[in-house]
Amino acid sequence: MIAASAGSVNEYWYFVDSFRGRGHPRHECGARSTLSGMMPRQFLTVCAALLTLILAGSALAQASKRHEQAVQQKPFGTHDGRPITLYTLTNANGVEVDAMNYGGIIASIRVPDRKGQFADIVLGHESLEGYVPNPPYLGAIVGRYANRIANGTFTLDGKTYTLPKNDGPNTLHGGVDKTFNKVVWDGEPLKGKPGVTFTYLSKDGDDGWPGNLKVRVTYTLTNDNELVIDYEATTDKATPINLSQHSYFNLAGEGTGDILNHELTLNADRFTPVDKNLIPTGELRSVKGTPLDFTSSTRVGERIDSGYDQIVLGHGYDHNWVINRKGDGLMLAARMYEPTSGRVLEVSTTQPGVQFYTGNFLDGRVTGKKGHVYKRRYGFCLETQHFPDSPNHPDFPSSILKPGETFRQKTVFKFSTK
Ligand code: BGC
Repeated sequence: MIAASAGSVNEYWYFVDSFRGRGHPRHECGARSTLSGMMPRQFLTVCAALLTLILAGSALAQASKRHEQAVQQKPFGTHDGRPITLYTLTNANGVEVDAMNYGGIIASIRVPDRKGQFADIVLGHESLEGYVPNPPYLGAIVGRYANRIANGTFTLDGKTYTLPKNDGPNTLHGGVDKTFNKVVWDGEPLKGKPGVTFTYLSKDGDDGWPGNLKVRVTYTLTNDNELVIDYEATTDKATPINLSQHSYFNLAGEGTGDILNHELTLNADRFTPVDKNLIPTGELRSVKGTPLDFTSSTRVGERIDSGYDQIVLGHGYDHNWVINRKGDGLMLAARMYEPTSGRVLEVSTTQPGVQFYTGNFLDGRVTGKKGHVYKRRYGFCLETQHFPDSPNHPDFPSSILKPGETFRQKTVFKFSTK
């Protein structure tokens, strides 16, 4: 680029000299002889246009170089005979997100602390094998129906559907066989920005669900350090759908300990209390006066072992909060702050609910990155979602997608420090 612009330096100086009233180029050049017949004013215009073109060309070349680097791909093994690719999204601030087409799993998120030190803040594994199987659903897209369906059954348009049970009497996160966390998706990096789209066709009858459901999940990393998750789906038969992202965060860095010192604010005045099988009773209960009140910033560990019946049933926090919302656009759902690193995670969403889960069922049986043993409460999830078991609760916001409609939801994870 420097060599190509050498001629333009002369033109630039001519421009400057003309501007200073001298009207002659600083050096002789070919450009001058072809332009010598022109009036200074015309010449100025040509020079300015040339300069603009050169600058624009150089900016474009730099931008395209940046974009080439915005998504890097590397082979990450095979599953069911299909190649798995790890896509690394990098933004202008050096923030990086690794995501793969197995389960749409987010394997790493590397963000700075208040001193600019980067750390990976999600629990996960260094190789594909670690994710197969993945009992805690580390980093995965969960579906067709995130969270629980009571007794693995629901009735839609007069027909009763039966799903495989994988959580006592319930179906959790879609079922057993072809759940979205453990199938191979098609991956396509976005052009010109750090992002990747995963698509998957969930067939009519898979795990008992109705309709051929085409699902599309896009991760985009912005230069404001936001990870934007766009969900889209269409179907050819009416079906319940509830898609969520099951990353376990630890803002001090994955594997550094439990998350009890994190401080949480939830934009939610109500939650959906559960029964002993963690199925919503149908009530929308006020958080006021309960350990589920996070309407002002509160240390996660402060009330996590209280005797309150809901905390006992959830073995800690494992509940759906009803997001306070005006309209159906993006609303702030949660803000989590980790005081030692200063890292902050803000979650905004178009969805009606958020499951705050404190990793109560992590029990040290999973060894993740760098040999870190993931013990109880070593990570938290903020799973934006429709309310659990909505197909069996006509009063809850509907989770039914019909043919001809497009399911669209958006969630934004924004990373900053304070
Ligand atoms: C559920 C938990 C469950 C976890 C892992 C969360 O979404 O709310 O109850 O243990 O996922 O499956």
